[in-house]
Amino acid sequence: MKRIGILTSGGDAPGMNAAVRAVARKALHEGLEVYGINYGFAGLVAGDVFQMDESTVGDKIQRGGTMLYSARYPEFANEEGQLKGIEQLKKFGIEALVVIGGDGSYHGALALTRHGYNAVGLPGTIDNDIPFTDFTIGFDTAVNTVLEAVDRLRDTAASHERTFVVEVMGRGAGDIALWAGVAGGAEDVIIPEHDFDVKAVAEKLQSSRERGQKHAIILLAEGVMHAEEFSKALSEYGDFQLRSTVLGHVVRGGSPTARDRVLASQMGSYAVELLLQGKGALAIGIQNNKLTTHEMTDLFDSKHKADLSLYTLADELSF
Ligand code: F6P
Repeated sequence: MKRIGILTSGGDAPGMNAAVRAVARKALHEGLEVYGINYGFAGLVAGDVFQMDESTVGDKIQRGGTMLYSARYPEFANEEGQLKGIEQLKKFGIEALVVIGGDGSYHGALALTRHGYNAVGLPGTIDNDIPFTDFTIGFDTAVNTVLEAVDRLRDTAASHERTFVVEVMGRGAGDIALWAGVAGGAEDVIIPEHDFDVKAVAEKLQSSRERGQKHAIILLAEGVMHAEEFSKALSEYGDFQLRSTVLGHVVRGGSPTARDRVLASQMGSYAVELLLQGKGALAIGIQNNKLTTHEMTDLFDSKHKADLSLYTLADELSF
C-alpha cells in the first residue's frame, strides 16, 4: 500500500483536525502518501481530493471544526454513489481510507471495504453515541463547553432566583447532558435513556425552594423535547421563575480540550497502523483506557449505552 485517503463526515466535532493531523503525519512517517478528501463522501464522489504533506496539517491541532469540511451525504448508502466514489479512488490511486465521523460515516466505510478498499473508522461526534467506545472525539470538549455555559447561567439564575432549563445537543444520547449535569451540579438531568416525571421534578424544585435554594439548573437533552416545551410543562406545577436556554451548535465549536486532542492523536495513528496491516471495516474505540477495534457490522447491531450510574449520582447529589 502506497497511498491512503482521509475524510471527515457527518456533524463536525472538536478534535477532528487533531485526528486528521495524526493520520497524515503518521502515514507520512511510515512512507505513505496521503490525500485529503473534502466534504466527506460527497467530496469523494465529486473528486474533491488533494495531496497532503507535513505542513498541510500544521497549525491545525488546536482548531475546532474540520479542515476537510464535512457533509451529510445519504446518497452514499446506494451502490450507485459508492461506485462513483470508487472511480475517484481509482483515479487518484488511493488504496485505503480513514473515515472520521459517526454512524452514517461507518456505513460508507464498510461499503468501501466491501468493494476492496479498506476503510477504518474513527468515532468523531460530540454526542458520544457510538457503541464500543467509552468516548468519542469531541465529546469532552462539548461537555466542557456546556459546563462553562452552565456555570455562567448559575450566576444569573442565583441572582434572580430563577430556574434555567438548558437544552443541549444529543439527538439520541443523553451523555452531554449527563456529564455536564454531574459536573455542573445540575438540580435535575433529563435524558432519553431514563424516564422522567415532570411532577416529580417540580416537587424536587419546590422542596429545595422551601429549604432556601431558590435557583436551579435543569440539563435537558434535545432528544427528549425542547426546552420551551419542558418549561411549559413544569410551569403547570408552580411558579419556578423559568427561563429556557438552547445551547445548540455553540457546543459543537471551539478549540478541542487536551483530552480530545490526545484521543484523536492516538486513534489517528492507530488507524494508519491498521491499514498498514491490511485491515478494513474496523471501528476504533477506547475502552477502559485502551484502544480497541470492533467490526463495523457489530456496531450496527448495537446501541451505545449511557452510563446510568451518573444519572443516579446526579440525582443523589442534588437535593
Ligand atoms: O453531531 C451530532 C449533532 O450535533 C446532534 O447532537 C444534533 O442533533 C445534530 O448533530 C445537528 O445536526 P445539524 O448540524 O445537521 O443540524
